[in-house]
Amino acid sequence: MKNKLNHTSLSHNMISLCGMILAAIGFLAGATLIAIDVQSHFENPYTGIFTYMVIPVILAGGLFLILLGVVIEKKRRRNSSSGKEDNLPVINLNEKRQFISFVVVVVVTLLFIGISVVGGYRAYHFTESVEFCGKTCHNVMKPEYTAYQNSPHANAGCTKCHIGPGADFFVKSKVNGLYQVYSSLFNKYSRPIPAPVHNLRPAKETCYTCHWPAKFVGATEMTRTYFRADETNSPWTIQMLINVGCGGSSQGSAKGIHWHVAEDNTVEYIARDEKRMEIPWVRVTDAEGRQTIFQDENNPLTPEEIATSEIRTMDCIDCHNRPAHQFRSPERALNEALTHGLLNPDMPEIKLNGIAALMGEYETEEEALESIENLLAEAYPEGGAVVEEAIAAIQQIYSRNMFPEMKVSWKEYPDHIGHMITPGCFRCHNDDHRSEQGQVISRDCDSCHTIIAQGPGRSVTSINTGGLPFQHPEDIDEEWKESRCDECHEGLPVM
Ligand code: HEC
Ligand code: HEC
Ligand code: HEC
Ligand code: HEC
Ligand code: HEC
Ligand code: HEC
Repeated sequence: MKNKLNHTSLSHNMISLCGMILAAIGFLAGATLIAIDVQSHFENPYTGIFTYMVIPVILAGGLFLILLGVVIEKKRRRNSSSGKEDNLPVINLNEKRQFISFVVVVVVTLLFIGISVVGGYRAYHFTESVEFCGKTCHNVMKPEYTAYQNSPHANAGCTKCHIGPGADFFVKSKVNGLYQVYSSLFNKYSRPIPAPVHNLRPAKETCYTCHWPAKFVGATEMTRTYFRADETNSPWTIQMLINVGCGGSSQGSAKGIHWHVAEDNTVEYIARDEKRMEIPWVRVTDAEGRQTIFQDENNPLTPEEIATSEIRTMDCIDCHNRPAHQFRSPERALNEALTHGLLNPDMPEIKLNGIAALMGEYETEEEALESIENLLAEAYPEGGAVVEEAIAAIQQIYSRNMFPEMKVSWKEYPDHIGHMITPGCFRCHNDDHRSEQGQVISRDCDSCHTIIAQGPGRSVTSINTGGLPFQHPEDIDEEWKESRCDECHEGLPVM
């Protein structure tokens, strides 16, 4: 007589049973949630994390337990039955019970594969969404997400610049992403997140999907009004044409600011520091392959240092390092708010008081907002709607640009465009980088822009398209010609 046990399925055991229950729960919950997500997108990133990250783990755990149970059960039966046994089960589809089981297994498997495919596709899209990247780890990503929403790229999506197309970066980013989810769960991330981002995808594969440098021909007009830190917040306006230029190859010879990224030439450099603020060595290769090396004559690198340093090819990010995450200095943000009427320039000393309120050393955003309110209420004891509005506007400037919990501000993430608040272009264009032939990387004011109007007031009346020599708003002699602007300005009022 055959052992009855051998007729019952191998999956009839406690471990497999638990696995089946777990898998069934995971399956039903997952299928329901995916159906809901397909109908109407999840707004809340946690629902997405639960559906596409937690449930698959439950499901896989269930399937694993079923298998584990079968393996253990098989071992147990082999040990208890002394006789020899066929290794594979015999399936007889003429037997009604076996036929029904077979159909059930096939249908469930197909359903499972179908839902996994839909689920996998949705999961892929979910982990690429702005909700997932920007909101999941609010504290960590809050500065970048906030700045992104106030940037010209607010609708681009994080992955357009951070991941881009192709399987290699997809895998890299998901592996990296897993580490990031882990480090934020266990509070292991650094504050602020280190920049520059070394494994950022090359600009050619991100920025170039929307922008095409050969096409930027001509100049861009820029008008800015500055408010001085005096009693009446005296305005001063500068209007200039910025020589963006470019071209290259089929479009004639490249010129202007975008010359650095024209197809015909390559600009490479070595930075002395991690943040790429000090650039003592620059090499230009032109269309014919001729090379010119410029070295900082005050502080050159030694040949050994050059041989062992990383040489970086200049691309968009070396100037536009903050296309989506710009953190403005208090001075710049206040000037903009005063220009656009968010702050009333008729309030005496509002620039000075705004700077003082924004510059405080705060541990948390909450503390900062409270102090800003107290400081301004004290400075304008008469109160009223104008003061209320000013408080709200300055609090908003703080919340958009400074993130004490993540130690983020314009100081940690300097913007390389321009040269007034950070060294920017003057990292190379300072008249000190000299080639063996005696050429310098020029700091001639007219090589990058043409000032067409400047002077006191909130607007300028007469424009001189021929260009004007720069007039520094405050009499500082020839100092602005000799020093770097940021040495005095640094984002703070100069007093
Ligand atoms: C227009 C392109 C672009 C978009 C869109 C974009 N980023 Fe960035 N991001 C950058 C660049 C460029 C840097 C590198 C800055 C550097 O190296 O100095 C960066 C840096 C970062 C950093 C490192 C910290 C820092 O501020 O340098 C984080 C975190 C980040 N981005 C998150 C995001 C998130 C989240 C989104 C979507 C909400 C997003 N980014 C959208 C271009 C972009
Ligand atoms: C998904 C498409 C897309 C990608 C990718 C993209 N941009 Fe843009 N970018 C735009 C659009 C659209 C605008 C115009 C926005 C407007 O005028 O409101 C723009 C504007 C800009 C501007 C002008 C900003 C201003 O203040 O007027 C700069 C500079 C810029 N992008 C740089 C970059 C850099 C650098 C990268 C790569 C890191 C990049 N972009 C990637 C779509 C993109
Ligand atoms: C040498 C520095 C530098 C490099 C490199 C550079 N840019 Fe620019 N770009 C500028 C400056 C300066 C402006 C003028 C606007 C400003 O001051 O913000 C500008 C303007 C732009 C604009 C706005 C154009 C307009 O007419 O208003 C876009 C878009 C842009 N750049 C994209 C790019 C892209 C994409 C790359 C990489 C292929 C790139 N830039 C490389 C410095 C640079
Ligand atoms: C890594 C160093 C470096 C940085 C940073 C840099 N440049 Fe340059 N730039 C160069 C070099 C090198 C040349 C070529 C000098 C020469 O051949 O005389 C050049 C040339 C130029 C030219 C003349 C191009 C022509 O028409 O021939 C302009 C305009 C210019 N840069 C603008 C800028 C602006 C604006 C910035 C900042 C947003 C900037 N550069 C940042 C290295 C740099
Ligand atoms: C290598 C190119 C370059 C050179 C040389 C240069 N500038 Fe600029 N400058 C820029 C760019 C780019 C901006 C625009 C920055 C921005 O978009 O915020 C700028 C902005 C400015 C502004 C507006 C300041 C601000 O940030 O609001 C002033 C004023 C100015 N430049 C004056 C000068 C003077 C004076 C000189 C000569 C000593 C000079 N520049 C030399 C590239 C240059
Ligand atoms: C020796 C220090 C010093 C240097 C160097 C310097 N500045 Fe200034 N700058 C000042 C002072 C002081 C003021 C007046 C500040 C005030 O009243 O708010 C001022 C005011 C300004 C203003 C008026 C707006 C404001 O923020 O108050 C502009 C624009 C300006 N400087 C541009 C430049 C540029 C561009 C350079 C480099 C080419 C430069 N400065 C170099 C000291 C300096």
